[in-house]
Amino acid sequence: MTKTLLRVLSGEAVSPPPIWLMRQAGRYLPEYRKVREQAGSFLDLCYSPELAEEVTLQPIRRFGFDAAILFADILLIPHALGQELTFVAGEGPRLEPIGDAQALGALGPADAIDETLAPVYQTVSRLKHSLPADTTLIGFAGAPWTVATYMVAGQGTADQAPARRWSYEDPDGFEALIERVTDATIHYLGRQIEAGAEVVMLFDTWAGALAPGPFRRFVIEPTQRIVRTLKAGHPGVPVIGFPRGAAAMAGVYSERTGINALAADTATPLEWLDGQVPPRVALQGNLDPMLLVTGGEALTETARRLVGDMEGRPYIFNLGHGITPDADPDHVEALVAAVRG
Ligand code: CP3
Repeated sequence: MTKTLLRVLSGEAVSPPPIWLMRQAGRYLPEYRKVREQAGSFLDLCYSPELAEEVTLQPIRRFGFDAAILFADILLIPHALGQELTFVAGEGPRLEPIGDAQALGALGPADAIDETLAPVYQTVSRLKHSLPADTTLIGFAGAPWTVATYMVAGQGTADQAPARRWSYEDPDGFEALIERVTDATIHYLGRQIEAGAEVVMLFDTWAGALAPGPFRRFVIEPTQRIVRTLKAGHPGVPVIGFPRGAAAMAGVYSERTGINALAADTATPLEWLDGQVPPRVALQGNLDPMLLVTGGEALTETARRLVGDMEGRPYIFNLGHGITPDADPDHVEALVAAVRG
């Protein structure tokens, strides 16, 4: 029997819809915090196949989600390309910023990333054998634009100004950076699929920072190239795109990139997206993660309404952004029960 998530990604409406949650492995779970402490640093956790497998499985054991997402991070690609990366507790990622096209010369070639990323592929292979038979394994990467924002700024920024500025001052130089990340991402996701990932997702957290022209050039075009190349090498592999903040660009993104599902952010009404996105493209999302902090009837009623609104349409239940560390695991349990009715 085909897994529910794969059925939806092939265009079927399934009731009740499959459910998984962005950042379902993480600090809101006491069992994650324990393994995280054991691992030492966050990067050590990402590069330890045994521990990364364990934290990927934790939310599956606890909540029985329909999909597991590989435990890793979108910034492993810059790290594997040779950019220094650390995660500062309470502050987030820090990278050695790349200021111009010349600095690109210091980065390694896209196909040299396996030396660093081999443990991630091992995590995927382990999960392929340890996951329950009806759980779909999702691999992922950051989309090139979002990864580039961190590579250029050296950290998270409020408005992605450093990358936007470079993209206007030297569009061709900036495009060379985007291309290097795109090539590495194609290679990385191909390896994840070969190791056992059944679906891949592209996180474009900062897509909403771009004006329409740059959105086409730095979000749609690289995503289209990733999807086309992956599907040429691995026919039928479904891809989920998350162009957070895409707003009015969500329709053209869905049409042009060739994705199989659009992950909706919190602010976009699903019934509006339904009219923008081709019917062959499934929708995913978009419960406000804050409801997993607050719980109660607002949580269960909003969840049931989303499920009701999407009845008859290919739909995957999820949040509009990742679970936060202050979410209550009991609320997650109540959510799963509400969605499964
Ligand atoms: O469960 C899962 O979703 C799988 C693992 C996963 C992580 N990060 C683990 C993680 C995934 C899919 C990501 C994606 C990711 N990473 C994104 C895109 C999605 C989004 O949330 O917008 C981004 C922008 C990053 C970059 C990143 N990683 C930041 C900015 C931070 C620091 C902020 C924070 O939440 O602490 C991280 C660290 C990180 N990645 C943690 C986890 C569980 C927390 C670190 C820790 O446990 O110490």
